[in-house]
Amino acid sequence: MANVLIVYATDYGNTRKMAEAIASGAMSVPDTQVSLKLAEDVTTDDLIASDALIVGTPVHMGSPDWRVKKFIDTVCSRLWMKDSMVGKVGAIFATGSGYGNAGGGSELTMLALLNNLAELGMVLVPLPKNTPGYYLAGLQWGPYGRSAGEKMEQTGVTDERLEAATYHGANVSRIASVLKGHDLFAKPIPVLA
Ligand SMILES: Cc1cc2nc3c(=O)[nH]c(=O)nc-3n(C[C@H](O)[C@H](O)[C@H](O)COP(=O)(O)O)c2cc1C
Repeated sequence: MANVLIVYATDYGNTRKMAEAIASGAMSVPDTQVSLKLAEDVTTDDLIASDALIVGTPVHMGSPDWRVKKFIDTVCSRLWMKDSMVGKVGAIFATGSGYGNAGGGSELTMLALLNNLAELGMVLVPLPKNTPGYYLAGLQWGPYGRSAGEKMEQTGVTDERLEAATYHGANVSRIASVLKGHDLFAKPIPVLA
C-alpha cells in the first residue's frame, strides 16, 4: 500500500480543485491510500507516514503562497535535519491567473517548490509532454491550472484543465508503489577509488 499525501493552500478553491483531481488520479491506482491536507494542518507524522508528497500552491506575487512556504520552512525543515524524506517521491502543482504573456511567475513558483523537495532528497516526478491535457494545463514541472481567461476574466480552473492533474496523480502513485520499500540512496556513501 502506497501512501500519497497531497498538501496545498487555497483562497478561492482553484488549487483545491487541482488537488482533488490529483487525488482522484492517485486513487485510480490499486493499493493506494490518498490524504488531502491544507498546508497548515500537516504534521511531521503525516510526512513520515507518506511514500509520496505532492505540494500545490496558488501563485502569489510570482512565488508560492505563504502558508505553503511556512509548511516547508517549519514542518518539512524538521525532517530535512533528520533525512526522513530522502528517497520518498515528490511532485508539485500550481494554479495562477497568469497575468501577462509569461505566466505571471508560474514557472518560478513551481521551480521553487521542486527545489524545496530536492533539498529534502526526494525523487522528483516531472510531467511528460505526452500526458493527456498537457497542451492546455501542463508544464514539465507539473500540472498548471490557469484560473483566468485570455483577458483575465475569472473563469476558475475549468474541467478540461484538470485532466493533466489527474494523470499526474496517477503517475506519482504508480512510481511510489514501485519504489516503496527500496532503500534508494547508498548509505554510507562509497569511497571512490
Ligand atoms: C495576493 C495574490 C497574488 C497573486 N499573484 C499572482 C501572480 O503573481 N501570478 C499569477 O499568475 N497569479 C497571481 N494571483 C492569482 C492566483 O494565483 C490565482 O487566482 C489562483 O488560481 C488562486 O488560487 P486559489 O483559488 O486556490 O486561491 C494572485 C492572487 C492573489 C490573491
